[in-house]
Amino acid sequence: MTINNVNEQAVSPWSDPQLAHVSGFRTAEDNLAYEITADEIRGKIPDDLCGIFLRNGPARNELAGKPFGHWFDGDGCVHTFRIENGGVKYRSSFVKTPKYVEETRAQAVKFRSYGHNAPGGFLKNLHMPANAANTSIIHHGGKLLTLFEGGLPWRMDLDTLATLGPETFDGALKKMDTFSAHGKLHPRTGDYFNFGMGMGARPKINLYKISPQGSMVARSALPIDQMAFCHDNAMTENYLVFMVMPVNFTNPLKVLFARDTIDNNMEFQPEHGMKVYVVSLSDFSLVRTLEVDPFMFAHSSNCWEEGDELVIDVVAMSAQDGEIGTRFSRNLFSQPRPATGQLTRFRMNIKTGQINREVLPSGIPSEFPQWDWRLTGSPTRYTYTAGICENETPGFYNAVQRVDCQAGEASVYDCGPGRYTSEPIFVPRNAEAVEGDGYLLFVVYDAGSELSELMILDASNMADEIASVPLRNHVPHGFHCGFTPL
Ligand SMILES: [Fe+2]
Repeated sequence: MTINNVNEQAVSPWSDPQLAHVSGFRTAEDNLAYEITADEIRGKIPDDLCGIFLRNGPARNELAGKPFGHWFDGDGCVHTFRIENGGVKYRSSFVKTPKYVEETRAQAVKFRSYGHNAPGGFLKNLHMPANAANTSIIHHGGKLLTLFEGGLPWRMDLDTLATLGPETFDGALKKMDTFSAHGKLHPRTGDYFNFGMGMGARPKINLYKISPQGSMVARSALPIDQMAFCHDNAMTENYLVFMVMPVNFTNPLKVLFARDTIDNNMEFQPEHGMKVYVVSLSDFSLVRTLEVDPFMFAHSSNCWEEGDELVIDVVAMSAQDGEIGTRFSRNLFSQPRPATGQLTRFRMNIKTGQINREVLPSGIPSEFPQWDWRLTGSPTRYTYTAGICENETPGFYNAVQRVDCQAGEASVYDCGPGRYTSEPIFVPRNAEAVEGDGYLLFVVYDAGSELSELMILDASNMADEIASVPLRNHVPHGFHCGFTPL
């Protein structure tokens, strides 16, 4: 097997089962568009499944044979699977950001990114990591937005995947604003809430409210104690919850003068404490600040209110989990095992400040928690994750699981040796279906064929493969996905 444009020394996928996933990091083809007909599909697309499955992720992780410094630096490529009338129309396109366009032209690194600096000294690195538009994706208010927390969202055309440029919501977002990869859709109002770490003399989190029509109707700033890493938040019926973990620069001047990379200079600093900010959805006012024992995490799952308590589920990482994930993300072509954690439930009393922490049952180490989005902010029983099971090739996410938080058990679907996956998403069978009655959609990459497929699994038993939609290309291992009904 040959791997295009990848350091040959580092790549020997099938000689080392721990590295069988490596070919899934090779660069994607741009601007693909074709149809997979019903007779090509293994199984049958359910009649009641109709919509567009959306995927985003780094799909070019190297240039001219030289790997980027970190997985976060790969150029974003959007893949859409339009599921309709028993068939699927597939389309892909890189997001044509300045980073992608200029570095494609030069076939060399031109911009500072998270894991590497631009050549040319500190004058060439006087900016945040270049926007790779590679992290997440949402279709809201008639706009398809690719999300990258270090910059503005980039908009694409849902039908053609043409890049339409940075989205400012009619100027409400400014050039230096950031917009996270993890906004939350309020199921009752249709509003979309997002946030971004604010630049300036005092650390803050900028808060944004986008109407169902796609306009920014409110914006505010929440002062915080320390500038820190905050990738995700959570939302209840009435509140936003920010758990700001103490991951920060060890020596900001070295980063400023490009004597170090951003990635290498970041460190978990538990001695600085970890605060939880609870913000009212109605006016973005601060309702309560709590303190929690510091821990590392990237993603939270669902969150809801029970009396004075907020219940929030988080994929908590140990220090060792975090180190494993960081090392993996720096060495995609030679390191096994990405970040995983343990689904953990926090109960936070916003009257007394009391916080209880409980590890939830989990069959396998996992990440990328998902739930039934109709119930965001309401109690949920099930969380779905991508994880790593101990089959013959456990070097990357190779399974999905459903954690039944009520029964205290987990159901694992093993993708099989040499077959890998990324974040799954739950799609209810129909608008009236009860929680858990529906489909789990996720992309599977097969290292044997070097091709990908869209898997549709029965979420009610996590075992029945309802349909597998074969692609004629691979979808590189990615981050987040979404679904928009037709
Ligand atoms: Fe994320």
